[in-house]
Amino acid sequence: MDLNSLLLDVMSTVREASRLMMDREHLLVKTKGSVTNLCTSADLAVQDFLSRRLRELLPDSGFLGEENDLLDTDHPYVWVVDPIDGTANFARQIPECCISVALRGDDEILLGVVYNPYHDQLFSAVKGGGAQCNGEPIHVSDRPFEQGLLLTAMCLYHKEYAETCSNIILEAYRKCNDVRRFGSCAIELCYMACGLCELFFEYQVQAWDYAAGYLILTEAGGVLTGRDGARLHFDAPTSLVGANSVDNHQILNEIVTRHTAGK
Ligand code: IPD
Ligand code: CA
Ligand code: CA
Repeated sequence: MDLNSLLLDVMSTVREASRLMMDREHLLVKTKGSVTNLCTSADLAVQDFLSRRLRELLPDSGFLGEENDLLDTDHPYVWVVDPIDGTANFARQIPECCISVALRGDDEILLGVVYNPYHDQLFSAVKGGGAQCNGEPIHVSDRPFEQGLLLTAMCLYHKEYAETCSNIILEAYRKCNDVRRFGSCAIELCYMACGLCELFFEYQVQAWDYAAGYLILTEAGGVLTGRDGARLHFDAPTSLVGANSVDNHQILNEIVTRHTAGK
């Protein structure tokens, strides 16, 4: 498979999908289960468009998407898609939200695209080919832990874990520079990839939140694992520990593992 040529097709498909996202008529909001879990008609329109168009790009590919439990994964290749990551931001017109598309093949991510139409920022990577933002190569920063900015969240959809998260954040905060919360896991991983921030921790994220960001970050020189350094499988909810370097990952992972032992 020619991943570079597929990447060009995916990038233009994602840009096309973003027009549905930016169409103001799509700002109708529904909630899914809890009041914090939003779905707008743009989430549905973007996913519907991508599930058709991406599968046309690659014969015998499946699709795993966030909305409507779209799960068609019994294929050698699977598109892992969050039609809008950062929907709470999107519903308020806070410009930190994106479309996230990854191609999974045999337990690894082969291609990733994260596009924020508000900033016209398109992050991309193919396995083994480095990472780019709007076509320019990107790389993680070399800041040590004490200068690092931690990107994190309080486990929004399972608030019973908020105390554990806050204990982890507090300990890491005391050792690093500061904390940021942008509200989109995919964008946060890309902000690490291009050297804006250094550390990432989140409890219980879904494959569509991190699959594309994982490849972009790791191709940019960063590290992203489950807790205890576990390898990611891109098919089930997991905790994430990420950093700009192996050393910083080890420090953050030790904090996370200690606070989550037995949980
Ligand atoms: C959420 C965002 C958020 C993260 C949550 C995700 P959504 O995705 O990525 O940053 O903290 O874990 O579920 O609901 O906006 O697609
Ligand atoms: Ca998401
Ligand atoms: Ca979403």
